[in-house]
Amino acid sequence: MGRKLPHPIPYQGSKRKLAPMIHPVLPAEIETFYEPFAGSAAMTLYAAHHRLARHFVIGDCLEAIIELWRSIIDAPEQTANRYAEIWKGQREDNLDYFNSVRDRYNNEHDPVDLLYLICRCVKNAVRFNAKGMFTQSVDKRRLGMAPEKMADAIEGASFLLKGKTELRKGDWLSTTSDANPEDFVYMDPPYLGTTVGRDKRYHQQLEQDRLIAGLKSLNQRDIRFALSYDGMTGEKEYGPPLPDHLSMTRLLLHAGRSSQATLQGKADETIESLYLSGNLQAPEKTVFEQPKSLQQALAL
Ligand SMILES: C[S@@+](CC[C@H](N)C(=O)[O-])C[C@H]1O[C@@H](n2cnc3c(N)ncnc32)[C@H](O)[C@@H]1O
Repeated sequence: MGRKLPHPIPYQGSKRKLAPMIHPVLPAEIETFYEPFAGSAAMTLYAAHHRLARHFVIGDCLEAIIELWRSIIDAPEQTANRYAEIWKGQREDNLDYFNSVRDRYNNEHDPVDLLYLICRCVKNAVRFNAKGMFTQSVDKRRLGMAPEKMADAIEGASFLLKGKTELRKGDWLSTTSDANPEDFVYMDPPYLGTTVGRDKRYHQQLEQDRLIAGLKSLNQRDIRFALSYDGMTGEKEYGPPLPDHLSMTRLLLHAGRSSQATLQGKADETIESLYLSGNLQAPEKTVFEQPKSLQQALAL
């Protein structure tokens, strides 16, 4: 160990900051750590860094993100070199450059182009249309992660995950279907409010019913799991509570100020729920604060 915890994909909704707060509630022995809503796989990287499991499964329904992980883990040097090449091609005054990389990505699907797009797009939030085209626009205020920093992060992530990690593209129910009681599943589905557009209530209900049915089947198989589900920022609340029959314990994690709130100069704090499966030892307290020192370190 001794190395810095790498985080090569700056992804909106990353659990990088929350990982140290989730750590104490994880079981001591884990055979395979599953992260079926992986995105930037912040929990997997954290678990690998702290040697919390022997194997890892990174899953996501977004094929592009799985291909990006393949490139990072299997070909770190080429990925970092290619990222540097793309990054250095940009000029602050040329906003068309981003659009040209986006067009190229939409035609050729090179995962390293996607990495650049994620680094430079608005809120680091990937957006795809129904045809699978990347549609998010450029954030004019910053250039995206510098190549040297990216090379370190890619090399670190590959070092942690190579030879121990399986990448799976697909829905969370299928990518976790072979999990056993010795394993652990960490889930971070998108907030229901952001998943669906029109006809929101009906779709939210449908999505929530599907989630509940999936959690029920994990319980029946005696799988240990944690679920980041809803949260609140200031006045805003996301996601209705989950039913008692799932026998989960709900913890509240004080995640500090959201980056959006910080940008807008607001003091709103983000509080996130973490549900633990009933077969895990419930901690004595249910509200967790982030240590000040960690908040300061992460803000750097
Ligand atoms: C909130 S993000 C997860 C962020 C992640 N915790 C991190 O640290 O970056 C949710 C992810 O789940 C994926 N996703 C959405 N619906 C899914 C589904 N039904 N099955 C698998 N993945 C899904 C999205 O593509 C997205 O990458």
